Amino acid sequence: MAKNLCVNIDHIATIREARKVREPEPVAAAILAELAGCSGITVHLRQDRRHINDGDVHLLRHTVVGSLNLEMAPAADMVQFAKTVLPNMVTLVPEGPNELTTEGGLNVEARISDVSTAVQNLHSSGILVSLFIEPKAEQVKAARKAGADYVEFHTGHYADAFERRDESEVELELSKLQEQISFALKSGLKVNAGHGLNYRNIKRIADLSGIEELNIGHSIIARAALVGIERAVREMLCLIGK
Ligand code: PXP
Repeated sequence: MAKNLCVNIDHIATIREARKVREPEPVAAAILAELAGCSGITVHLRQDRRHINDGDVHLLRHTVVGSLNLEMAPAADMVQFAKTVLPNMVTLVPEGPNELTTEGGLNVEARISDVSTAVQNLHSSGILVSLFIEPKAEQVKAARKAGADYVEFHTGHYADAFERRDESEVELELSKLQEQISFALKSGLKVNAGHGLNYRNIKRIADLSGIEELNIGHSIIARAALVGIERAVREMLCLIGK
């Protein structure tokens, strides 16, 4: 079955913050992306608020028709904020202050206690919880133990290998992903995937079975800057078979 596409619009806010002005407006981008056929919108509310801010998330909650996925660190203040917004899903991610983008999966195994507390607290407000993890059995087991509904597998290593044209590494990463997707599904978790996916490397990920939703940001917004967001979203939907 074709996978759903959730478009991450953080970079629209990054452009806005380059001038600290009012445009471009992330909500406008979300509306156009949804009109082009994506199934949801993702934003990462960083603790330093470097792009998306609290007001953006509240506005998106009122305007996004499909699924709103809020990415955030598993910190108590972020959980409290999410409970005031009630997104459809929260994806818990690791966060470093100086990173350009999320650098790896959340080490759920090492942080099982705070991750479980965040999951329980979000569940008590009816919010689905996904954990962004590396495709490794110990992380899948820990995600299950923490009570998550979904895992989002980090596809960044696959994307890096693809960019280096390292074919054996590409095959290795794809087989790890497929193996852990099957393991997660057997463990009762649902599966999303994302990070580093673009118009060149998406095909092999789209061919994997068992992924419900793909989260894609940079490549779609980069193309949108040149050809418009509706066309950029439609072209990606076409590649993932929607
Ligand atoms: N999934 C997660 C958990 C992320 O943190 C990000 C980046 O914000 C993405 C997916 C999207 O990655 P990209 O911008 O490389 O498409």
